[in-house]
Amino acid sequence: MTTNERINKIVDILLVSNSVTALTGAGVSAESGIATFRDPDGIWSKFNPLELASIDGFISNPERVWSWYQYRVNIVNNSKPNPGHYALAEFHKYNLDFNLITQNVDGLHQRAGSENVIELHGSIIRNKCFNCNQIHEGAVINGNLLNNCKRCNGLIRPDVIWFGEMLPESEINTAQKLSSNTDLFFSIGTSAEVYPAADLPLIAKSNGAILIEINPVKTQLSNFADIRIELTSGKAMPLIIEEYKKRVE
Ligand code: OAD
Repeated sequence: MTTNERINKIVDILLVSNSVTALTGAGVSAESGIATFRDPDGIWSKFNPLELASIDGFISNPERVWSWYQYRVNIVNNSKPNPGHYALAEFHKYNLDFNLITQNVDGLHQRAGSENVIELHGSIIRNKCFNCNQIHEGAVINGNLLNNCKRCNGLIRPDVIWFGEMLPESEINTAQKLSSNTDLFFSIGTSAEVYPAADLPLIAKSNGAILIEINPVKTQLSNFADIRIELTSGKAMPLIIEEYKKRVE
């Protein structure tokens, strides 16, 4: 099947689906200039996750963790959503029960106009207290010093999920429920290696959903996918939404 035929087939399925769920990963933001994690030049090939993305790493050197997160926040602040984010945001405009679940912490889906995004791994833009979980807005660093929680004086940390931490209960529960009740599931720009997010496409498939994978590279999910589009998300998602619009408008 050619790519065009695959896109047409996906749109055929979209047109008869009541509920559509998409799970996105770092690949969706790659075309916005934000590095992925496990590609050859990805974040985890350059940085040590145990030093920078774990509770032990934070306790042993909060300044080091913070300087890395500030570097990443700067990249996010200087980036823009790409056509893949915008195409996904368009799905919300149609008469579909469309739900977007992301592992990304960069907020680009929301900046592209997506609503009610389920953020499984938190948000790099938000901070919280390490002790009492109070959410903190505003500056974390005061001169060279880290600010402390106003409520309990604990250390402030990014509101993201680190290795070994549980996902936010309500987000993962909602994501699992949506995945088991969906007609069509898109896995986009994720290596599908990090659990429990990586289970969601399989939960959907085992409950009867059609599984679509959008990724230029094969993943461990690829063998389970009913249709694969080997294009970037910034190329594939606009093709899908444009074809869908042609048929519904
Ligand atoms: P990965 O870096 O593991 O995988 C990114 C995937 O995106 C790969 O399969 C690439 O082939 C694919 N990809 C690259 N560019 C793409 C593009 N332009 N369009 C589509 N796909 C593209 O990232 P995730 O699967 O998101 O967790 O990683 C999952 C979690 O691991 C992250 O949320 C993060 C990380 O540790 C935490 O920080 C808790």
